Amino acid sequence: MTPSGTNPDDTGHQRPAGGKGIGLSASPAWELLLPAVSAPARTRGRSLQAALREAVRSGRLAPGTRLPSSRDLAADLGVSRGLVTEAYEQLTAEGYLRSGRGAGTWVGGAVRAAPPRARDLAPRSPGADADFVAGTPDLSLFPRAAWAAAHREVLARLPHDDLGYPDPRGLPRLRTALAELLTRRRGVVADPERIVVVSGVAQATALLGSVLHARGVREVGVEDPGSPQHTALYASAGVTTVPVPLDGEGPRVEALRESGLRAVVATPSHQFPTGIACSARRRAELLDWARSVDGLVLEDDYDGDFRYDRAPVGALQGLDPEHVAYAGSVSKSLAPGLRLGWLLVPRSLAEEVVERKRTMDLGHPTLDQALFARFLERGDYDRQLRRCQRAYRERRDTLVAALAEDFPGARLTGIAAGLHVIAALPARYGPEERFLARVRAAGVAVRPLSAYTHARAEPAEGGDVRLVLGYAHLSPGRIRAGVRLMAAAV
Ligand SMILES: Cc1ncc(COP(=O)(O)O)c(C=O)c1O
Repeated sequence: MTPSGTNPDDTGHQRPAGGKGIGLSASPAWELLLPAVSAPARTRGRSLQAALREAVRSGRLAPGTRLPSSRDLAADLGVSRGLVTEAYEQLTAEGYLRSGRGAGTWVGGAVRAAPPRARDLAPRSPGADADFVAGTPDLSLFPRAAWAAAHREVLARLPHDDLGYPDPRGLPRLRTALAELLTRRRGVVADPERIVVVSGVAQATALLGSVLHARGVREVGVEDPGSPQHTALYASAGVTTVPVPLDGEGPRVEALRESGLRAVVATPSHQFPTGIACSARRRAELLDWARSVDGLVLEDDYDGDFRYDRAPVGALQGLDPEHVAYAGSVSKSLAPGLRLGWLLVPRSLAEEVVERKRTMDLGHPTLDQALFARFLERGDYDRQLRRCQRAYRERRDTLVAALAEDFPGARLTGIAAGLHVIAALPARYGPEERFLARVRAAGVAVRPLSAYTHARAEPAEGGDVRLVLGYAHLSPGRIRAGVRLMAAAV
């Protein structure tokens, strides 16, 4: 007697009767072979070969389909490995299957179908000899060795419990390290209990948008010019953005007062894209406005870490943490692909934001959080910021010098910080449309300031060509060559 429901196979291996009960481990594609292996031991090999042959012939196993290793299929079907090896060899000899040394076994056919390829929808602009896109760091500066060291340490020491669902705000260890970093570097009031680890400023924006929407807010002010990202992200939460004009000191607060808005997105440290640092007076006015309407400033500190020749400008949040929600990320300092950032929320919104984060994704991936915490604790993040700062200052200097040489009379603004500059070229280079077309034809990708304007673009002064030129991701040689190409083209 064999145990109920199983028969010994030809090697004495226990196999579920009638192929039943195996389904949990067998991949569905191979279930079609199960009836064959329930044949009597004496004919089981031939049955398996026939079933496999039939599956190929009928197209149920398409040309190019990779078969499991003989060991895996044997385990899934509950038969001996020899039986599967024999079937593979026989069908390979017959031309149904093909195999290559070290390449496994796959279904043959007139044309070996290429496995479907996933399309890449990442925003890239290939083909240009020099792409002065704004907001991209130099990804080759990513500190692979230090990241790998932190990764090894974390994997070796991470308590098992930390692999469970995390606190939706993030691992306490990371929130503590972030509070230390942000207090020290950005002057924020960082209570670890009110930090939420997110997948970037983008998710912070989506979370806030969703919470504000639930509270009945349908409109949020955005700086004009400003980042199209803000508009798109608030729109996804059902919140419309209303352009708020800027002057040389920051967002115009009288425009905010007239608008009736109660929330505004701002980039006070280094306005995107103009590079304006919000003046002390304007900061105070902005906060007065927020208090007077019981409202909120949504501070996007998107590149607050990089400044070259101006005094540090602390985050607005430090002046009034109950009326400012502060968001930042590692997208400019490490890599946007890490999708890692933080959101500091006022007490009045904290519970709703955390609950929204919980229902959105049950928290940020814990391994990434532990890794970043270790990276911060080891001092690696500070080292990385210093390294980037040196590299980007050199590139900024290279761009400024190249523009002075090849575009005499160009006026540059927003050069004291960040990863891009605004260049206003004299009218003789215009009109802008023609300039852009010629430069594009010469293989240089540049964006006009008007691409970031929400309200109808005012005509550029005296026909100036105003460009937003990102430099951080380009080597000094590339920057010089790109500017030269531009100059030659016009
Ligand atoms: C001004 C500004 N804020 C926020 C973001 C989104 O950043 P994150 O990668 O942190 O989601 C971008 C992205 O380009 C940006 O330009």
